[in-house]
Amino acid sequence: MVAPTASSVVLDLGAEPKAIDKSSAMSNARCYAVMPGPRPLPILGNSWRFAIGKNPWRTRALDVSLWFLRALAGDGGAAKVSKLFGHPDLVFPFCAEETARIYRREDLMPHRAKAPCLSHYKQNLRRDFFGDEPGLIGVHGEPWSRFRSKVSKALIAPEAARAAVPDLEHVTDDFVHRMECILDDNRELPKDFLTELYKWALESVGAWALGTRLGCLKDNDVEAKEIIRCIHGFFHSVPVLELSAPLWRIYSTPAYKTYIEALDAFRALCLKRLTDKGICSQIAKASGEKVATILALDLLLVGVDTTAAAAASTLYLLANNERAQKKLQMEMDKNLPRERGMTSKDLDKMPYLKACIKESLRIKPVILGNGRCIQSDAVISGYSVPKGSHVVFPHYILSNEERYFPSPKEYVPERWLRDNDVRASDQAVSGSITNADKPGCPYTRAMEVCRKQKEVGIHPFASLPFGFGRRMCIGKRFAEAELQLLLAKIFQKYDVSWRYGELTYSVTPTYVPNEPLQFTLHKRNGNNASL
Ligand code: HEM
Repeated sequence: MVAPTASSVVLDLGAEPKAIDKSSAMSNARCYAVMPGPRPLPILGNSWRFAIGKNPWRTRALDVSLWFLRALAGDGGAAKVSKLFGHPDLVFPFCAEETARIYRREDLMPHRAKAPCLSHYKQNLRRDFFGDEPGLIGVHGEPWSRFRSKVSKALIAPEAARAAVPDLEHVTDDFVHRMECILDDNRELPKDFLTELYKWALESVGAWALGTRLGCLKDNDVEAKEIIRCIHGFFHSVPVLELSAPLWRIYSTPAYKTYIEALDAFRALCLKRLTDKGICSQIAKASGEKVATILALDLLLVGVDTTAAAAASTLYLLANNERAQKKLQMEMDKNLPRERGMTSKDLDKMPYLKACIKESLRIKPVILGNGRCIQSDAVISGYSVPKGSHVVFPHYILSNEERYFPSPKEYVPERWLRDNDVRASDQAVSGSITNADKPGCPYTRAMEVCRKQKEVGIHPFASLPFGFGRRMCIGKRFAEAELQLLLAKIFQKYDVSWRYGELTYSVTPTYVPNEPLQFTLHKRNGNNASL
């Protein structure tokens, strides 16, 4: 992984966590009421904007809302959306320095935004099952802290992801084989390729967490078909339940029924398919089967659409950037084995591959903003913000701003490389660049962007696709290994191209493309293509 602090281009803030705001800072702060934001109406507050759903206030287009708020906030400032029905005020600090400051003084038990329907499922509807062990997702305070301390070490340890590589490779090989089988006569992938990516991600999480193959990559497995049906229902109902008005609190809406049915099915699956292999079996030995089953459920719930979305965006960005794709393939041809399976050591020799993933998550982060509910009054961007407000770190905006990432729309993985890795990758391609000195040459253009990036450095809090601190993504290393293997296998075997217009994206709540992902695959020439 290209860890933020490992890169020579990363700025070191060097600060220790600071204490909670001093009262003098509070008294000097600007009043919360003057923080910019859409003006709430009496009684209706700001909720009506999302209910009507006109730009820039559409729940599926929160990217547009964020850019709008960014403009309201002005340079280095913050904006808010206050008086939302049944929801705390949202405060958006549009500044990496401020993000660092807030994260670094994070409470011992950070509160993320509530997932009300999931909390209801775990803490009310199926309380008989979850009891005092509700897991990680939708859980806060002491129960979250207790659970995380039981599972964190085993999941976050680098060895956990390394050990998963052989099993993940089997899943990925099966998936790449499946990709070949589902190509049409024009060698295009089918319109529902995003669903195929969900299947790959689900099969991968099953192999890692439960130590079993779920069968999602086969067409004739009845149980797997049922899991896929549930996962579909689940992902379609999540945005309706978590982003729109909570009608499910009044009556059992169709989305609510689908959601509960899916959660029950996943819970049954985890109970039934927990084996003595997989990461959850280690947890079962240390903390019992119940904890292991609940963990497996949480990993299934958040470990599928996230990785699938990241894979979709990386494929899309590379398919549209021949230069980066060629460079990646050269790195693969040089470092990856052809006659045996891949190991984590092989993947460690692939800095450009890792940089490609980082660059994709910068341009198209899977989660647009990561949040914390503040547990005490605080000064944020110079405003006094009341306790209970929900601070959203809009890293989608920061990681697409010129001041942090020069020419932010351009896909230049080299931004993330150490100087010697950039040199090594340049040498690898130098022989194949014939018109490097001509204006408009993509290679020269990328080097220019990379040079500008080196000048400003990379602020370690300007792109945080996996969050930060005690509650950061527990599946980060695993997700990275999964993505590295998938991309390695695909680009080792194929040239991937895109014959359609620019993709548009929606928040579902993961940030996913709207249009069909009909990538064209052509087998690469030479030995490298035969996997
Ligand atoms: C590219 C893929 C992924 C991205 C971008 C991603 C991103 C995130 C983010 C932003 C958070 C919130 C972090 C915070 O609040 O600071 C999170 C939490 C979490 N993620 Fe991921 N994630 C990915 C894949 C996965 C996978 C594959 C798994 C498991 C198999 C996973 C499991 C979790 C869990 C359990 C949490 C909750 C942690 C807690 O609250 O203690 N994630 N993820």
